[in-house]
Amino acid sequence: MSLSKQARAIATSPTLALNEQASKLRARGEPVIHLGIGEPKNPTPINAILSSSARLRVGDVKYSRVDGTPSLKKAIIRYTEENYGRLPAPENIIVTTGAKQSLFNILYTLLNPQDEVILLAPYWVSYPEMVKMCYGVPVVVTPEDGTFYHRMAEIEQAVSAYTRAIIVNSPNNPSGVMYPPEFIAELVDYCERKGIYLICDDIYHKLVFDRKEWHPAYAYSDKSIDDGHVIVVNGVSKAYGMTGFRIGWVIAPRKMVEVMINVQSQMTSNPSTLLQAAAEGALIGSQGVIENLRLTIQNNRDVVLTELKAFNNVRIIPPDGTFYVLPDFRAYGDDSVALARFLLETALVVTVPGAAFGMEGYLRLSYAGSIKDLTEGVKRMRWALDPTAPNEIYIGDRKLVRDWL
Ligand SMILES: Cc1ncc(COP(=O)(O)O)c(C=O)c1O
Repeated sequence: MSLSKQARAIATSPTLALNEQASKLRARGEPVIHLGIGEPKNPTPINAILSSSARLRVGDVKYSRVDGTPSLKKAIIRYTEENYGRLPAPENIIVTTGAKQSLFNILYTLLNPQDEVILLAPYWVSYPEMVKMCYGVPVVVTPEDGTFYHRMAEIEQAVSAYTRAIIVNSPNNPSGVMYPPEFIAELVDYCERKGIYLICDDIYHKLVFDRKEWHPAYAYSDKSIDDGHVIVVNGVSKAYGMTGFRIGWVIAPRKMVEVMINVQSQMTSNPSTLLQAAAEGALIGSQGVIENLRLTIQNNRDVVLTELKAFNNVRIIPPDGTFYVLPDFRAYGDDSVALARFLLETALVVTVPGAAFGMEGYLRLSYAGSIKDLTEGVKRMRWALDPTAPNEIYIGDRKLVRDWL
């Protein structure tokens, strides 16, 4: 079959094969533990339910403006004022189908063929594929010192005449680290001097632990949204645990938003009017939902770190936020895909290979699930990999003996 080279070059989701294998095992009744999940377990915030059901009740679910309903935009303006200290105009905002479409719209609007986008490894899996879908070239910068923190000099070296944007995701999926404010300030200053756009994927900015403070890139720019080079992506997926609602947004210079609206209008039009109402409900309703979620996840993070510390030779950089941790498992093999497959087959634990995030030899574990799954999952991983762990374990009601170490 003759298919587009461009489309065929897009990588399959790294979790897809493992998820399929895990589903098959589960269907056979195997007690699989999923540490690959990218969403919190909390129920939908009540205000989101009420606000969308009010619309359904009156049967008013039609097309909205492509760039979002005026009332949701109003809620986003208020959210931005409170969290970013900036007051965007409605024309600076486009509401999208999840933060994913926000990122795609931005890249499609910015890139000419062969333009480059700097990605900071570890990076979110979709960034390089989205850049390629927009005929651009992803340029990955990996910290040389083995941390998850980049030095400005490393980034400057990777910048060329073709560089159009740098994507920064802090706190970061998959590492959970939040970049220091000085680094964000340096990035803003550099991008403004060079005329490069700084795309800030802030989807996890509310899920920060230990009373650490998150600082928006806008805090380091004197320029207005229209004259500056900061582009913000956010949404309700992670902070409110509303992943299935698919509502995100972009804040950008209005000239760019105008083009993004044209792009989106030819592709998907407005995000579902019903789900925009739900997002509006979440944004203007009680924000206690976020704090409850944050505290639960912080507690989960503490549990998973304690469990991981029992592992021999696994290096961990403690996460400052999100619900992920990216331990270095190179002591147990350099091929993270093979390692994740081995863990699923022997210990029935799903993890995500670091290779997908530009960090070979690492595994991403999600701690958005239950404490029981976290402790049991890491215990099983230790049993499968660590020769200093007891060599017998119960998985479900089966007693297993490790005989490969
Ligand atoms: C870093 C990052 N950006 C964007 C997204 C996409 O968010 P949404 O579900 O709103 O499309 C995710 C989801 O996993 C993410 O981890």
